[in-house]
Amino acid sequence: MKLTVNGQQHEVDVEDDMPLLWVLRDELGYTGTKYGCGIAQCGACTVHLDGEAVRSCQVPAAYADGAEIVTIEGLGTPDAPHPVQQAWIETQVAQCGYCQSGQIMQAAWLLETNSAPTDEEIDRVMSGNLCRCGTYPRIRAAVKAAAQKMQEA
Ligand code: FES
Ligand code: FES
Repeated sequence: MKLTVNGQQHEVDVEDDMPLLWVLRDELGYTGTKYGCGIAQCGACTVHLDGEAVRSCQVPAAYADGAEIVTIEGLGTPDAPHPVQQAWIETQVAQCGYCQSGQIMQAAWLLETNSAPTDEEIDRVMSGNLCRCGTYPRIRAAVKAAAQKMQEA
């Protein structure tokens, strides 16, 4: 099957039901996307698939055939980070960091769909992304800072 990841086309020969997360990490080497629970309960594996935030551990590879996927590696670059990544750095959100690529991908999708979310909207949209280090207050602050940056841009 063919899929485009971060603007690069790939052809992979995998079982239809292999989780997209496995394809990304094990077949293509995009290891920025993390495995947490494997059952769509933690958000660590969040990527964008045709513009939607999805839990890649529960997306069968066949579903991603022909799709455009963005992972944390493709959201921005070290020289030109996405506003969400920039806000995350400035707010020093991460603690252990394990959940953070999923958090950032979810937050970036949130701001694409809602440019000025309220606290309640942030909490609702981010509620499926768990952080065992409890960085939630900094996540909320960083989402607001990123929204501000995107509005000023
Ligand atoms: S690893 Fe996919 S939601 Fe937890
Ligand atoms: S920063 Fe450690 S799990 Fe979120």
